[in-house]
Amino acid sequence: MKRIAVLASGRGSNFQSVIEKVKDGSINGEIVCLITDKPDAYAIERAEKAGIPVKIIDFNKFKTRDDYNRELRRTMTEVNPDVFVLAGYMRLLETETAKAFKGRMINIHPALLPSFKGLHAQRQAVEYGVKVAGCTVHFVDEEMDGGAIILQHVVPVLDDDDEDTLAGRILKEEHIALPKAIALFCDDRLVLEGRRVRILK
Ligand code: GAR
Repeated sequence: MKRIAVLASGRGSNFQSVIEKVKDGSINGEIVCLITDKPDAYAIERAEKAGIPVKIIDFNKFKTRDDYNRELRRTMTEVNPDVFVLAGYMRLLETETAKAFKGRMINIHPALLPSFKGLHAQRQAVEYGVKVAGCTVHFVDEEMDGGAIILQHVVPVLDDDDEDTLAGRILKEEHIALPKAIALFCDDRLVLEGRRVRILK
């Protein structure tokens, strides 16, 4: 059984979807810890309800970004799970951390990468006028939203969509795709070959 640590900054609905799939046995793993940079993240309540230990590394309490990053890396090293899941963790992982845990970090992004990296991906999609959007689960590397892609789920963009309606449609798929990718990881079915991820049958 794999040990999973989750990083989240906010609402934590993706975190919740992972909690549920661990509980019902679809993911062969246990969530050993939630790490958050925000002391008021709703994800904390979700962890407490599920009996998952929480480590708060309050970004605003650090003098410099480097100090924060050092403490985050120290904590991640100490927890040392098989996999870190970034479920709405809204900060860039600095290069050293990304390198240290390469192949063991999975992120969910609300766009079909490599389109619409960074913040407000759903707004970017609406403004660009694309006809399909979706979410991407990928390994994390040193580049923002740039790592090898594990799964992508697609949704239509409708004529009268705004950022919120599109985000809602994408979020439903996120809640399916993220636990699915973690389940594959925990069953050792993901093989990382350069930029490509092979999924073993
Ligand atoms: C999700 O839509 C996730 O894909 C996105 O933040 C939201 C978090 O929601 N992540 C990013 O944009 C990362 N670049 P949640 O807290 O309810 O899971």
